Amino acid sequence: YTAEIDSDDLEKGTYPYYMLKEIDEQPAVMRKLLLKYQDENGKLTVDQEIVDTMLESDRIYIIAAGTSYHAGLVGKQLIESMTHIPTEVHVSSEFGYHTPLLSEKPFFIFISQSGETADSRQVLVKTNALGHPSLTVTNVSGSTLSRESNFTLLLNAGPEIAVASTKAYTAQIAVLAILSEVVGISKGLIKKGTMLHDIGIVANAMQAIVDDKEKIEELAADYLSISRNAFYIGRGMDYHVALEAALKLKEISYIQTEGFAAGELKHGTIALIEEGTPVIALVTEKGVAGHTRGNLQETQARGAHTMVISMDGLNRPGDQIVIPHVNPLLSALVSVIPTQLLSYYCSLHRGNDVDKPRNLAKSVTVE
Ligand code: AGP
Repeated sequence: YTAEIDSDDLEKGTYPYYMLKEIDEQPAVMRKLLLKYQDENGKLTVDQEIVDTMLESDRIYIIAAGTSYHAGLVGKQLIESMTHIPTEVHVSSEFGYHTPLLSEKPFFIFISQSGETADSRQVLVKTNALGHPSLTVTNVSGSTLSRESNFTLLLNAGPEIAVASTKAYTAQIAVLAILSEVVGISKGLIKKGTMLHDIGIVANAMQAIVDDKEKIEELAADYLSISRNAFYIGRGMDYHVALEAALKLKEISYIQTEGFAAGELKHGTIALIEEGTPVIALVTEKGVAGHTRGNLQETQARGAHTMVISMDGLNRPGDQIVIPHVNPLLSALVSVIPTQLLSYYCSLHRGNDVDKPRNLAKSVTVE
């Protein structure tokens, strides 16, 4: 493929693993996206045909796998909040079984770092056969999903070499935020765009966290390196990040980890909590912060070794990690960074090959 690759992208340089390099690159990726999607008047913009197609659609279907699916869950909140277009998110390999298309004018958005995921490609073949319009959000120009869909929005994140996706996840969410705001403004739902400013703030917040990674290395050693299983819990946006955080930890440290809806624990799963089970709560959703903390306390009362990743303004004394305050719609871009680093250090401490975890491939081109 003809991705924009310059030589140092493919070199680890002084980094021990590509994953750490790619985590560190995320603030720069945010800033590059703001440059890429800005017009000559300094306003955020995307291909007008994409905007027009979305304006005509009555339902958006986001189709993706793995980490890209988790980005799609955040994308749903962004699209619905800013454009009011009903949006469904489907795991690629699960889409199409008895799910009738409840829409006259659907618009399909395929999210895929590689643009080659077979599970997603098989849905695009059907979408094309039905004549529905589609957009691919991908890091690889010239990839199959990009070539076979009507439109493409590139992540411009540089090659992502580590199997565990990090900078592609945050870039996917940022691109969907930009797209959602541009469409929201076109619909007259948003008076003045703030994403240009807000994503800049996000980049600074990301930088602050990656600059203080030693602290997260210590937490990884204290909480996770020897544990057999772990939980990430949250509500709303924090639940979406909990799912991504759990996948990251699972796939490179091999700790059985669940991302779980905090409010759902008491309906059964809390039976799994034992003395010392690590339970990490994400607390950036203002309206439900107290509930999530209450759910965390329920696990603590049963012996869990708890940690809180909160956002400034919602933090309390004793929270192990506090991320800078950003637009709540974009909090996933920042709260995910400590969880990426926790996974990285956990994998490192366990002596795993962080970039090439067992049983996994970077792009899953089989169904
Ligand atoms: C993410 O860390 C995993 N490596 C994997 O789940 C990945 O996100 C998934 O296979 C989808 O890949 P894609 O974005 O290239 O379609």
